[in-house]
Amino acid sequence: MRLAEQDRAPLTLYVDGQPVTAMEGDTLMVAMLAGGRVLRTSEFGDGKRAGFCLMAACQDCWVWSEDGGRLRACSTPASAGLRISTSQPGASWPTAK
Ligand code: FES
Repeated sequence: MRLAEQDRAPLTLYVDGQPVTAMEGDTLMVAMLAGGRVLRTSEFGDGKRAGFCLMAACQDCWVWSEDGGRLRACSTPASAGLRISTSQPGASWPTAK
């Protein structure tokens, strides 16, 4: 739930094929967590992840672009129409639920 800064322009991106409403200036992490989602499920089997350092240092917030490129959710700006996956394309890791 978003409690402040609700006057920025909304935009829609897609997470695992589902629309997520973000606001201009959000990072992917803010957009995903404000929508009530987790970022992803840990590839090490220790549960759902929501980022850790929030400053592009710990690598706990990886998500993937549609073409398989790896993105840090905490430092990647949300943009209209962006399609991301919470699991690495082609990997056998568990997916976020
Ligand atoms: S939360 Fe640490 S790199 Fe994104």
